[in-house]
Amino acid sequence: MSKNKWKEFGTIAVKKMAQAQPGDRLLILTDTRTDSDIAEACRAAGIDAGIDTKFLTIPYMTPTDTRELAPSAAQVILDANVILGICETMFDEKAAARQARKNGTRIAITSPAGMEDFLIEGICGVDYGHMLKVAERACELWANSDTCQVTSPVGTNISFGMKSRPVLVGDGMATQPGELDFFPGVSIANAPVEETIQGTVVVDGNIPPGRLVEAPVTCELEKGIITDISGGKDAHDLEAYFEESGDPIAKHLCHFTLGLNPRAQTTGNVHQDEHVLGAVTFGFGSQDPDFKGNVPSCKVHCDVVLRSPTILLDGTVFCQNNRLNADLGLGGL
Ligand SMILES: [Fe+2]
Repeated sequence: MSKNKWKEFGTIAVKKMAQAQPGDRLLILTDTRTDSDIAEACRAAGIDAGIDTKFLTIPYMTPTDTRELAPSAAQVILDANVILGICETMFDEKAAARQARKNGTRIAITSPAGMEDFLIEGICGVDYGHMLKVAERACELWANSDTCQVTSPVGTNISFGMKSRPVLVGDGMATQPGELDFFPGVSIANAPVEETIQGTVVVDGNIPPGRLVEAPVTCELEKGIITDISGGKDAHDLEAYFEESGDPIAKHLCHFTLGLNPRAQTTGNVHQDEHVLGAVTFGFGSQDPDFKGNVPSCKVHCDVVLRSPTILLDGTVFCQNNRLNADLGLGGL
């Protein structure tokens, strides 16, 4: 991959994803697992833009490593008002990052490993502004629909109500003080009305802990809760994941998400798989309060991805074969 390409990426990451500008105290944060060329390109872009830009490399920490960051690293985080994370480590879960957000620091993060091509194509090779416009129109359609039905050639057939539930856009950009977002976007999501969720979800894409299924996994749902899982080894693994969580709420459907990035491809990288245009992700377990749903609190969360479902809103095709219905004002992606 040419350094020239990373240069363009760095500029867009700094200016658009982190929304950094002169007057900000920008921190480029990376870790020892991440290609240093990518973070370096962001540092150069920050300096070129006349922004007060600092650079921090932290040691890689696994997702289950609950130790805090070293005090010196924590201080650097607290000193910034904008953080661009080019990083595998989930530093946003650490106390310093949480405190920084409370202080108003905004954070944009990407985890390049395994999706380097998408990282560039998903923000540099796409009309991001148009993608956001389509997302807004799609949100409008979801917000004004009573019932959604999702079907697929492999056997998905589930329906749910979604009237009165807010639709959230994952735009990938950290625009507001204290905001945290992951890029590249874009996706939209809501929380289906729990007691109306009824039917079958057949997973033919990503399953926990972030890999593609070898054979489809069938989940039966009643009133928003998984009552049965069948299929091969992947079905067994998914059932084992729920068992190990030890929390019955882990099987409650908590969000319905649609990918909108035409440059995303299904590869087994969960962030990229979820953003494939027309791919649907169902989340289970802990629910973001912004969805204003009624799933009881839960300590775990997982996502499953359907690669190419059909979505009908009140009986009208909204999306099919990874294409949005242009007649609904959703063309051009
Ligand atoms: Fe999720």
